[in-house]
Amino acid sequence: MTGIDIHSPEYRERTTDFEAEARSCPVRWTDRHEGHWLISGHDTVTEGLRDRDRYSTVKYTDENGKLCGGLTIPTAEGYRALPNEADPPEWDGLRRLLAKPFSPGAIEQLRPMIQRYATEVVDHMIEAGEADFVMEVGSPVTALVTLDILGLPLTDWRFYAERIHQTFTGVPGGGDSEAGIPGIQKRLSESIAARRLNPGSGLLDDLIAAEIDGEPLTDETVKDLVYDILVGGFDTTAGLLAGAVRYLEDKPQERERLLTDDTCLRTATEEFLRYISPAVGLAKTATADFELDGETVHKGDRMWFMYRAANWDPEEFANPEQVDLDRARNRHVAFGSGIHRCLGSHLARVIFQTVIREFLTRVPDYRVVQDEAESYVFACVNAGFAVLPLRYTPGPRIHETPVLEQV
Ligand code: HEM
Repeated sequence: MTGIDIHSPEYRERTTDFEAEARSCPVRWTDRHEGHWLISGHDTVTEGLRDRDRYSTVKYTDENGKLCGGLTIPTAEGYRALPNEADPPEWDGLRRLLAKPFSPGAIEQLRPMIQRYATEVVDHMIEAGEADFVMEVGSPVTALVTLDILGLPLTDWRFYAERIHQTFTGVPGGGDSEAGIPGIQKRLSESIAARRLNPGSGLLDDLIAAEIDGEPLTDETVKDLVYDILVGGFDTTAGLLAGAVRYLEDKPQERERLLTDDTCLRTATEEFLRYISPAVGLAKTATADFELDGETVHKGDRMWFMYRAANWDPEEFANPEQVDLDRARNRHVAFGSGIHRCLGSHLARVIFQTVIREFLTRVPDYRVVQDEAESYVFACVNAGFAVLPLRYTPGPRIHETPVLEQV
């Protein structure tokens, strides 16, 4: 295990075996990628994520001028994702600005808007009889909802969605997977500059007008906050939806329950989050020397937190490899835990519940084209599909002018 490489093809092929092996010693060192810890057991992951002081997510430059830290191993260049790559006290001020618009109460108010976009993405694919669920349903619906909240032009949905999908489908450092990031950064900077001159009425405008301790945010900070909201939500929510659609393909009784039983839909949402774990793992950096499960961690050590390994820990979940739509106790960490716990968790849940009902109602006989479905090549950060092709009996549209056709 000490030589295990989280980016290797073996990890992708044997993900759950590997994660089970990792859990047998929930804090262990690997010498790959300049060395880092693997943190995998449910309790160790949860306690670590809740520790506000011992772990940092900030990127920094070391004495040799090398970029270190951040959420990925190796450290990704070319962006700063806020508030995820900020530590307290900077994190507190930034997160406070975002807490209200993404609170359960605020997201409840958005249900009609989310339903409208769910109807429209299904309208857009339903007549064809075949579609890629990821880029024709899961990603666009999340993109449209998020851009609507921010007040960014809906016409940009494809621009952002395709570039974000590209970063998740490629091999980091091994191709052009990060090629889309500069384009996103540039488009966001242009939109922010334009909105400073001509304010609109979305979260973007609220951020431009916001202050922390009496100081306005810089354009750079506004960009980094919006970037995190876009990148954090699109492929994770699409991956959750796609994973559920694939699982439910041959389970008519479970589908019926999701459509008719609100309690089951809510419990099942948590179970799909646990089972699919769209966020598989992310990194932090130790801020001090300390003991962890009998191992000595040193200041500056990189720590790889394995959310899915925690969510499949048999010490916490009975039969973790099985989906149990009625699983009552479900302390999953699919949204992380502690200060960086997902800002968009309420939004992701409502999008998931709305879209799954819309889709299962209107596309009841879908089949997954199994030999054309492709998972992400890079398996350790996010679980999802590059493409999930479906075939089904074509059906009628509901709306006359879907937003997707106007863009
Ligand atoms: C099923 C969908 C989603 C999953 C599984 C997911 C997962 C996660 C996880 C695991 C973290 C914690 C990262 C850490 O430990 O450092 C996180 C943070 C975050 N997520 Fe999500 N996410 C989802 C949807 C969304 C959506 C829709 C948004 C859009 C608002 C979003 C925005 C964020 C942001 C901004 C953070 C950073 C929060 C902070 O640092 O305070 N996520 N997410």
